[in-house]
Amino acid sequence: METKKPTGKLGILIPGLGAVGTTFIAGVYAINKGMSRPVGSLTQMGRIRLGKRTSINKPYIKDVVDIHPLEDVVFGGWDVFDDNVYEAAVKAQVLDKNLLDSLKPELEAIKPMKAVFDKSYAKRLNGTHVKEAPTKMDLANSLMQEITEFKDKNNCDRLVMVWCGSTEIYIEEGPVHQTIESLEEGLRNNHKDIPPSMIYTYAAVKLGIPYANGAPNLSCDVPAIVELSRQTGTPIAGKDFKTGQTLMKTILAPGLKCRALGINGWFSTNILGNRDGEVLDDPDNFKSKEVSKLGVLEDILEPELNQELYSDLYHKVRINYYPPRGDNKEGWDNIDIFGWLDYPMQIKIDFLCKDSILAAPLVLDLALFLDLAKRAGMSGVQEWLSFYLKSPQAPTGVRPMHDIFKQQIKLENTIRYIAREELITHLGQDY
Ligand SMILES: NC(=O)c1ccc[n+]([C@@H]2O[C@H](COP(=O)([O-])OP(=O)(O)OC[C@H]3O[C@@H](n4cnc5c(N)ncnc54)[C@H](O)[C@@H]3O)[C@@H](O)[C@H]2O)c1
Repeated sequence: METKKPTGKLGILIPGLGAVGTTFIAGVYAINKGMSRPVGSLTQMGRIRLGKRTSINKPYIKDVVDIHPLEDVVFGGWDVFDDNVYEAAVKAQVLDKNLLDSLKPELEAIKPMKAVFDKSYAKRLNGTHVKEAPTKMDLANSLMQEITEFKDKNNCDRLVMVWCGSTEIYIEEGPVHQTIESLEEGLRNNHKDIPPSMIYTYAAVKLGIPYANGAPNLSCDVPAIVELSRQTGTPIAGKDFKTGQTLMKTILAPGLKCRALGINGWFSTNILGNRDGEVLDDPDNFKSKEVSKLGVLEDILEPELNQELYSDLYHKVRINYYPPRGDNKEGWDNIDIFGWLDYPMQIKIDFLCKDSILAAPLVLDLALFLDLAKRAGMSGVQEWLSFYLKSPQAPTGVRPMHDIFKQQIKLENTIRYIAREELITHLGQDY
């Protein structure tokens, strides 16, 4: 199928205008005004190799596939607080106040719509800018109406949605999530296993709007939404932005494994003091994050196959809420490895990162790549976008892929496929 051109305006809808959401939006304005650069974004700064290695051909990705231009993007969103994007960004304390002041008119103009929210799914949040309706299906319908109005009012050609809302309490996939019918029945009956995030997901996917989930909530990672996404021709990707410590883990672990070095301990701990940290301070919300973070090493190291090297691995992840640090997270890793003749060694990582600075380019790339996928006629789970996600969704019956280098190969080959370029297998004449 021919990929449609990215004409007109693209609306990026964000449930959750907190630290990540506002850092992303303000960043796009700053970049469009030539005040700063989109560092960390492959759609803006990444290159891709095409053809044989004998001829050096590494154009920008945006020159190989039709990425929607950054200048033609508009933003909308929802939050449980009624602060506009300028006020929310000032409170988040990620970006410099001078930079935000120079973007004040544009940022002030973006006011959150009332959220679909229920405190029992995020106990530490006390927002009041919240919709009220008798059933979860009514709330979904209200979202769909707002989305349609937003599209008309902003004269958008297409929309995408990226969840940047808080992490909700841990919920396991259950019977209500199995089919479109059971999910719709659950929405009508206010089923407790349908959290607010899934109501946004349902609304977006039902309308055929590409959807990415930046938090570890189940959201689009249930059979009912996957089925709906195929039915409505909607590309989806989840879950949980891969930034900070997990990014480092999926860079380092494949390297140790490919050299057949053993690992018997990986202790990861973080301190962070933003609102995300506060929400994750509740054990039920932390559980969602913990499950998302723990799966990573299992997949990369395959202890069931490589028992001599990894079967004793003790993997622990902690997150500690520590207000003085705000968004400036510090993540420590202690890795106990062993080598030749079982001699032990240690690796220590101390990553002083800025959480939202790492996440913002991921929001952009997920939005623009999902829009590309939609124009290319792709639907369902977009596994090639696992590259951006801590707990990637995989097709049924297949283990998710966590190794960032394998994810990169898949992402690049998908771009080559969309561009109708030859795939690179690193075999034969390719090399
Ligand atoms: N920053 C990172 O590096 C990173 C990495 C991976 C995942 N995440 C996830 O991304 C999400 C956003 O992170 P953040 O640092 O911006 O957090 P944040 O607390 O600053 O922002 C989240 C916002 O979502 C709003 N919200 C909560 N429930 C909502 C609902 N139902 N509808 C609308 N708005 C709602 C909150 O009021 C808040 O303003 C979190 O779930 C976080 O775990 C962040």
